[in-house]
Amino acid sequence: MRGQRLRYSLALICLTLATVITFGVPLVGTAAIDHAIGTPAAAPSSPRLIAWLLQALGGADHLRTHLWLAPVAMVALALVAGVFSYVKGWLAALASEQIARQLKDDLYDHLNHLPATYHDQAGTGDLVQRCTSDVETTRQFLATQVMQIGNAAVLAAAALPLMLALDVPMTLVSFALVGPLIVYGYVFFRKIQHVFREVDEAEGALTAVIQENLTGIRVVRAFARQEFERNRLATPNALFRDRNIRMLRLMSWYWSISDFAALSQLGLALLVGAHWVAQGRLSIGLLYGFLAYLSLMLWPVREIGRILTDLGKTSVALSRIREILAVARERDPAPSFRLALLPERLRGTIAVRDLHFAHAGGAPTAEGAGALNGLSFDVAAGETLAILGPSGAGKSTLMHLLLRLYDYTEGSIRLDGHELSALPRSWVRGQIGVVMQEPFLFSKTLRENLRLGHNDAADPDIHDAARMAGIHETILTFEEGYATLVGERGLTLSGGQRQRLAIARAVLKRPPLLILDDALSAVDAANEAAILHALQQRRGSATTLVIAHRLATLAHADRILVLDHGRIIQSGTHAELAGQPGLYQRLWEIQTSIAAELNHDLKSA
Ligand SMILES: Nc1ncnc2c1ncn2[C@@H]1O[C@H](COP(=O)(O)OP(=O)(O)OP(=O)(O)O)[C@@H](O)[C@H]1O
Ligand SMILES: [Mg+2]
Repeated sequence: MRGQRLRYSLALICLTLATVITFGVPLVGTAAIDHAIGTPAAAPSSPRLIAWLLQALGGADHLRTHLWLAPVAMVALALVAGVFSYVKGWLAALASEQIARQLKDDLYDHLNHLPATYHDQAGTGDLVQRCTSDVETTRQFLATQVMQIGNAAVLAAAALPLMLALDVPMTLVSFALVGPLIVYGYVFFRKIQHVFREVDEAEGALTAVIQENLTGIRVVRAFARQEFERNRLATPNALFRDRNIRMLRLMSWYWSISDFAALSQLGLALLVGAHWVAQGRLSIGLLYGFLAYLSLMLWPVREIGRILTDLGKTSVALSRIREILAVARERDPAPSFRLALLPERLRGTIAVRDLHFAHAGGAPTAEGAGALNGLSFDVAAGETLAILGPSGAGKSTLMHLLLRLYDYTEGSIRLDGHELSALPRSWVRGQIGVVMQEPFLFSKTLRENLRLGHNDAADPDIHDAARMAGIHETILTFEEGYATLVGERGLTLSGGQRQRLAIARAVLKRPPLLILDDALSAVDAANEAAILHALQQRRGSATTLVIAHRLATLAHADRILVLDHGRIIQSGTHAELAGQPGLYQRLWEIQTSIAAELNHDLKSA
């Protein structure tokens, strides 16, 4: 920021120089008209500034015989002013682009460090708008409006004394309508500020509908909702049009009234000036000078009202940006020296005691207050623990707590004896390989997606991990193999393929703690068996938590926990649980009887 302040200061200096030099142009014209073209006797006593300028040009007689000097001097001055004005624009652009870029970088970085609880309640569309259009408003303001405000200030500071020095009454006449014009502009734009805001809001609503529609385009098609969706867009679309028309109509009013006032000001100056020239009170040269100044000033003056209201718009945009930056990042309470004491690799024992957690804004369940209501269990290093339970039981929530995406409110989780909440998040996440319930792939190549947790993984390792997840052969059938682009810009993978990639991605990290959250739900039975077999081969190398609904997936685990309403209701091996009455036995009976029925049907068919 400091570097940019210097650039802005330099830009302001260039702006001042450009303005002052521009103001010299009409002065030369005035001197030439009054002393070299007209008869000097006809001109009343000349202001000192003009006399001095005349001297600089070699005196009245010299100028009369070398009349070309005046236009050449005027062009030269305009040229120098133009150079300064160019440098000003360049510096301001450099500074504003740099600030906007920095702002976007900071925002993006900040958003990536905000806690999961923030992203739970913040709308993605709203965040995108703040990162793009609010930053753009700020950028535009910094690139142009700041300089326009500077311009108006320099004009007022330079022009007024100059014109007063030339002729006081004529200055008053020249500014007679300028004051009301500025006030009119300011009042007008203040009054219709809500119109601008309404247009912005209507645009936001329109974007939200389109964004949601595109995200759910398959659902729209599958439910044949095209007609409904078109109607849903019609209302915000029409509203946006109406508000825009209203704004444009108001703006037409503004510019036509302001055009009229500006031209009236010129006419007034010409009328009174000409009268004074006829009376011999004012020289023709000065009249020309004042008219030239007026035309230089009228445009910036008419812009002032708009700029002042844009100031309001920018401050709204800035406050929306600041709102994001003000949210505290995920903070690690652990002092940095702890990192040195931590082992590079976790052994992988987990001890959970009386764990409680409730989502902010989460609906309290009938059975308890939150998603987790007093969990206690232990997992030995290298053990495979399966977790089963009805939808909403709190399985994914438990995984999120282990990853420190959320912080538990009561109870404790210990990894190798260290309290989880005291461990640095990045270290914890580095120890865990996770396959989320809804795996996400980036619009990158397969290889880059697989390397997500292990940037410098070598190809043989990548292939091993993919083989383990049963996706290697499939990848080889793609034309570009591991270099195939996936996601929005590339190949669309099936749900099962995506899950297998996510498993390979997690395994490639070789983490001491592996978490599979319903990671096999979309994988076909043959692949599932192969993956489970491969996982068993690796038994002991990582503590593994497997969440699943299919009991066949869980049966091989060392131990199984049955979760309901955030509590453990059963635990034991498959054989134990299948033998005791309870949820597990019921599920087992349902799932095996379905399989048996299917078998029977197939045989009798
Ligand atoms: N981000 C969230 N904000 C508020 N409540 C949430 C959030 N995520 C989950 N919940 C609630 O917490 C409870 C447990 O959800 P969780 O995702 O842990 O269930 P689950 O056992 O993984 O279910 P499933 O088998 O369907 O994946 C549910 O009642 C759910 O509505
Ligand atoms: Mg879940």
